[in-house]
Amino acid sequence: MVGDVAKGEADYNQYCIACHGPGATGVQGLGKSWVTSEFIKGQTDDQLVAFIKVGRPASDPANTTGVDMPPKGGNPALNDQQLYDIVAYMRSINKP
Ligand code: HEC
Repeated sequence: MVGDVAKGEADYNQYCIACHGPGATGVQGLGKSWVTSEFIKGQTDDQLVAFIKVGRPASDPANTTGVDMPPKGGNPALNDQQLYDIVAYMRSINKP
C-alpha cells in the first residue's frame, strides 16, 4: 500500500500531534521525535504500520520514556490507508 504524504500530515495533525508535537519533533514527557528517530529509519513501511497498530506500552522493555504509546495513538478507527499515509509523512521528515 502506498502512502500519501499530504494526507498523512493532515492525519498526523489530527491524531498524533498531541503527544508528538508540531512537526513531530517530540514533546518532553509525551511522544518522541520522529525527526531524529533511528527506530523509524530501521523499519520498513509495513513494520511501522504494524508497530503503530500495537503501540509500545510503558511495560515493554523496548520503551524508553516510561510513557505509553497507545495502539494507533488511541484512535482505533484509523484504517490501513491512513496509517500508510502517516508513515509516508513520517518518512518525509525522518532525518536521524
Ligand atoms: C498519548 C500519547 C501518544 C499519542 C497520541 C501518539 N503517540 Fe506515538 N509515542 C508515544 C510515546 C510516549 C512514545 C515513546 C514510547 C517509548 O518510550 O519507547 C511514542 C513512540 C512512537 C513511535 C516510535 C518512535 C521511536 O523512535 O521509538 C512511533 C512510530 C509513533 N509513536 C507513532 C505514532 C503515531 C503514528 C501516532 C498517531 C496515529 C502516535 N504515535 C500517537 C505517545 C503517543
